[in-house]
Amino acid sequence: MSEHKTLNAVAQIESLFAEDKSFFLKREKDNLSLFKKLKMKHLYALPSMLTRRIYKLLPNLLKDIIFWPWVQHRAPATKYFANTRYDELRTLIDIKLSSMVLRSFPQEMIDSTKNTFDKGFFVTQLNDISELDIHISDVINYSKPSHAGARPYLKDGKNKEIQDSFSAYYDFSTEANKHITSFMLKRLDNKFNYHLSALAGYRCRFKDISYSLGIVHGENSNSEMHQDTFASIAKGFIYLQDVTIDDSPFEYMAGSYKDAAFRSLQSNNSILIDDIQSSGATRLRGKQLEEAANKYSLQTFIGRSGTLILANTAAYHRKGLHNSTKPRITLNFEIKRKGLIGKLFINLSAAIRFNIIKLLKKNG
Ligand SMILES: [Fe+2]
Repeated sequence: MSEHKTLNAVAQIESLFAEDKSFFLKREKDNLSLFKKLKMKHLYALPSMLTRRIYKLLPNLLKDIIFWPWVQHRAPATKYFANTRYDELRTLIDIKLSSMVLRSFPQEMIDSTKNTFDKGFFVTQLNDISELDIHISDVINYSKPSHAGARPYLKDGKNKEIQDSFSAYYDFSTEANKHITSFMLKRLDNKFNYHLSALAGYRCRFKDISYSLGIVHGENSNSEMHQDTFASIAKGFIYLQDVTIDDSPFEYMAGSYKDAAFRSLQSNNSILIDDIQSSGATRLRGKQLEEAANKYSLQTFIGRSGTLILANTAAYHRKGLHNSTKPRITLNFEIKRKGLIGKLFINLSAAIRFNIIKLLKKNG
């Protein structure tokens, strides 16, 4: 059957990786001026670049006061607020606002999307992904690889290099992104957008997505159980090979997103003990990891090529253990992140629109 065929590009990457993995690490020096970078990023990205710049320059106390609803303000910046219920309260507000998205869904979608919202993930299978082949073989030639946050050391402040840790992420061109999205839209049914919105925490559609090709081998900083931020965000992974328990399967603690008290306690503790390395995207270690393992059910996503996993990565997750010689090759994407204010406006207007239409239909 065609869906069981190995993608040619993936087979090529696997054999190239076995021969000479340094091929994937050719990172050219970026000599572009700030002006050119701005042009590349397009004008609409300017406000968010400016906000990031301002955020970076502010003293920590002002970050906590001004940026409390901002999704990029991942954890309290000061011990003062880490000693309060600041992070727990804003997490509870996020859960409430994110769950509001369900109010704009048709009745027949409520049960299944509520289930997705509660668990924090949604899995589906894409059959016959051979159309992606050309984009996968091209991207490793035209794109410059980055680490995309996967570092060859644990974020525990010790900076001890992990042996044989390898990660290279390639961003697809605008043209390729368009093709991949239209390929996905052909394969996904209408219900997909509802599950996507339930995980992102606001009413969104699968469009304007940027993808990257991830080639990962061995362990890295994502091998530790962690949350990406305090508020719900949705990320997607498509396995381009059959992934067994030995091939770094994605692992996820179901339901942990909704446990504001536990998650904020871990973030606060890491700030109070000056664990700066993990305080942004809080990591679970030792006793806390054990406690979480007892509280939540650990999902290990093994699956064949074409498995698509969507997850709210404000919940605890990690890259599973790698015990294979082959690299793990995935297509990755993320839905635009929204903070508390954005979620409030989008979900409120979606709910109002939905109810007006319902009323009109009833009376019409
Ligand atoms: Fe993560």
